[in-house]
Amino acid sequence: GKVRAPTHIISTISDDRGEEPCYAGVPMSTIIEQGFGVGDVISLLWFKRSLPRYCTQFIEMCIMLCADHGPCVSGAHNSIVTARAGKDLVSSLVSGLLTIGPRFGGAIDDAARYFKDAYDRGLTPYEFVEGMKKKGIRVPGIGHRIKSRDNRDKRVQLLQKYAHTHFPSVKYMEYAVQVETYTLSKANNLVMNVDGAIGSLFLDLLSGSGMFSKQEIDEIVEIGYLNGLFVLARSIGLIGHTFDQKRLKQPLYRHPWEDVLYTK
Ligand code: ACO
Ligand code: LMR
Repeated sequence: GKVRAPTHIISTISDDRGEEPCYAGVPMSTIIEQGFGVGDVISLLWFKRSLPRYCTQFIEMCIMLCADHGPCVSGAHNSIVTARAGKDLVSSLVSGLLTIGPRFGGAIDDAARYFKDAYDRGLTPYEFVEGMKKKGIRVPGIGHRIKSRDNRDKRVQLLQKYAHTHFPSVKYMEYAVQVETYTLSKANNLVMNVDGAIGSLFLDLLSGSGMFSKQEIDEIVEIGYLNGLFVLARSIGLIGHTFDQKRLKQPLYRHPWEDVLYTK
């Protein structure tokens, strides 16, 4: 009989062998003819399923709201400096992307992990926050350099408003708000940031949509899919900053001596 040679790669999200490529079994023509958006494409390629419109719209909102936050943040700064060093688009982009991590933009997965664990274990915000403090871990999704109690992050408010209107349940987000109320009693800048809003609301999307089993939700949270939203979104802005510097023919960047404390 036929002997099947062992394959070196297993792939389950897309297939380009037929007449037209398919994303999670959905042909390209369907994607175009049915007016799918980038949220649908993310649902197919990341979650391997079509999600309801309110979910794909939420994903698209995350992408649009996180696309850029000005030239001064870590990622844009790196991309700008790299572009001004005469490097190409991909180098400038990845130089910015490499700053995404636990402090900047890459706290979404940990926010989801910690909020989920604390909520599911029934911890009060006090027990959760003080427990984190004892362990010496900053609460992911809380805190911002320029946002504060009196200068809230509009992105957080827009996402919360959308979810309140469209999600069947916002229990994780409401828990994150209670955590924020507690952290704000400690310091004015300990607001829920956009990573915390996306992390908690995505838990609500996963658990409230009825589209994912408990085991699948645990796997998504454990693997850490959600920082991908920020990486994808911010790539739009980082590419924009790279083009901007090149269009402006900006020279090599050198940081001013006056702005460095030289000390022994
Ligand atoms: N949980 C608990 N305490 C905190 C937190 C937090 N998330 N953030 C700050 N603090 C405390 C600090 O411990 C510090 O007190 P200490 O000096 O006694 O230790 C005090 O607040 C001030 O801290 P700073 O370092 O001045 O705060 P900074 O403005 O530099 O930090 C940052 C901002 C990096 C966002 C911080 O709040 C943080 O690490 N948050 C968690 C990670 C996170 O959510 N990052 C995503 C931000 S949103 C984005 O990047 C798109
Ligand atoms: C961002 O989206 O880049 C920010 O929230 C970080 C910042 O410091 O503004």
